[in-house]
Amino acid sequence: MKTTVFFIAAMVTFTAHAADPGAALYAEKTCVACHGKDAKKPLTKSYPKIAGQNAAYLEQQMTDIKSGARANGQSAAMKGVMHLVSEAEIKTLAAYLAKLPG
Ligand code: HEC
Repeated sequence: MKTTVFFIAAMVTFTAHAADPGAALYAEKTCVACHGKDAKKPLTKSYPKIAGQNAAYLEQQMTDIKSGARANGQSAAMKGVMHLVSEAEIKTLAAYLAKLPG
């Protein structure tokens, strides 16, 4: 019985994940390489965990890194991929990341 419940929960989680266009973008645009699985296991300790952060904040930071308005220490590492990401995709990614458990 317990196994069945677990299995159903896993299926639901998986389906919800796969159906989210933000999840697809997160993998497709290589975000996962630096920010890690579920956006909370970054490549190095100096890269940010971004799961569960406020959507509006995430959107602003991505927009600023893309435009160059945010250009502190390590932003350059991320700026390189931001030409692949449109304004609409930034919104989708921000909504997806904000929903992830932090
Ligand atoms: C090559 C590595 C790399 C890639 C690829 C990358 N990032 Fe980043 N990202 C970083 C680094 C490093 C920072 C911190 C920048 C700084 O120090 O200013 C950052 C910062 C951020 C921030 C701001 C976090 C905060 O707390 O202010 C967000 C949001 C973010 N990344 C989302 C994404 C998304 C979404 C993608 C995919 C489109 C992506 N990143 C791709 C390395 C990367």
